[in-house]
Amino acid sequence: MTKKAAFWIFLFGTLSSAALFLVLTWDMHRQVDVLSRADKLSDTVIAGKKSFEKHNCNDCHTILGFGGYYAPDLTRVVQRVGEDGVRYRIKHPELAFAASVRKMPQQHIPAAEIENLLAFFSWVGEIDNGDWPPQDSKKRLTRGEKRLVAMAGVSPGAAVFKSKGCMNCHALGGSGGSFGPALDTVGRTLSTEQIGQYIKEPKSVNPQALMPPQTDLTDRELEEVAKFLGNLK
Ligand code: HEC
Ligand code: HEC
Repeated sequence: MTKKAAFWIFLFGTLSSAALFLVLTWDMHRQVDVLSRADKLSDTVIAGKKSFEKHNCNDCHTILGFGGYYAPDLTRVVQRVGEDGVRYRIKHPELAFAASVRKMPQQHIPAAEIENLLAFFSWVGEIDNGDWPPQDSKKRLTRGEKRLVAMAGVSPGAAVFKSKGCMNCHALGGSGGSFGPALDTVGRTLSTEQIGQYIKEPKSVNPQALMPPQTDLTDRELEEVAKFLGNLK
């Protein structure tokens, strides 16, 4: 190649890349208001963002990839665990993560501030960023559950029972909560399918049910925990 040809390749390559970059930048800025849902930036959302900064949540957590890599990314946390799930985890991290080796501190955040944080997470979660970051597959167990299976040798269903807060209300083998019935022999009266249905939508099996629907389980988790309980006879 002659020096002259190299010069033209350099010049054309650089200028065309620069032009493309500028056009994409312009196009991105043109769409920012729509993609980021700027019109939905209410006072509560802004207060939530301030609260997120005040409590240094992002020392441990990321949002849109920015922050600490100790704890889960919160970009789509509302879609992942639901509004009640987020409230519960911020209010009682010592209970929500009791079975986990990673800990989140109890910061005694006032209820009003938790609502602001929730509004902020909901707003962030709806930003159109091409389904990024990817969420855990509905077909998998969480990392904490896999660890319980591997380290404590319990079955996947028992790990789900432990990690999803069932024991806050139900006892097994004498330990656990007493708001709901002990489930040691639940497999005698209910089939695996009925148990799965009960967990997902208690009122569909028992119209007077006090148990809240457990929406925080993946399909795989639901299947495993129903199988586990169905075998308790
Ligand atoms: C010292 C580190 C630390 C700080 C600070 C912290 N967290 Fe966490 N948080 C964690 C860890 C660790 C987990 C995950 C525990 C597990 O699942 O094992 C977590 C989990 C969560 C979850 C549930 C995520 C999910 O996918 O289930 C939410 C919601 C959350 N934190 C919100 C907050 C908010 C809001 C703040 C600030 C007020 C905050 N965290 C501050 C460490 C932290
Ligand atoms: C907030 C408390 C609460 C939580 C959390 C909870 N339950 Fe329940 N559950 C109850 C109560 C109360 C009942 C008794 C019937 C009713 O009022 O719904 C019940 C009933 C059941 C039954 C039917 C028992 C029977 O003999 O009819 C099953 C099965 C069950 N729960 C499984 C689970 C599983 C699995 C989880 C965790 C994923 C869970 N529950 C979480 C409160 C709870």
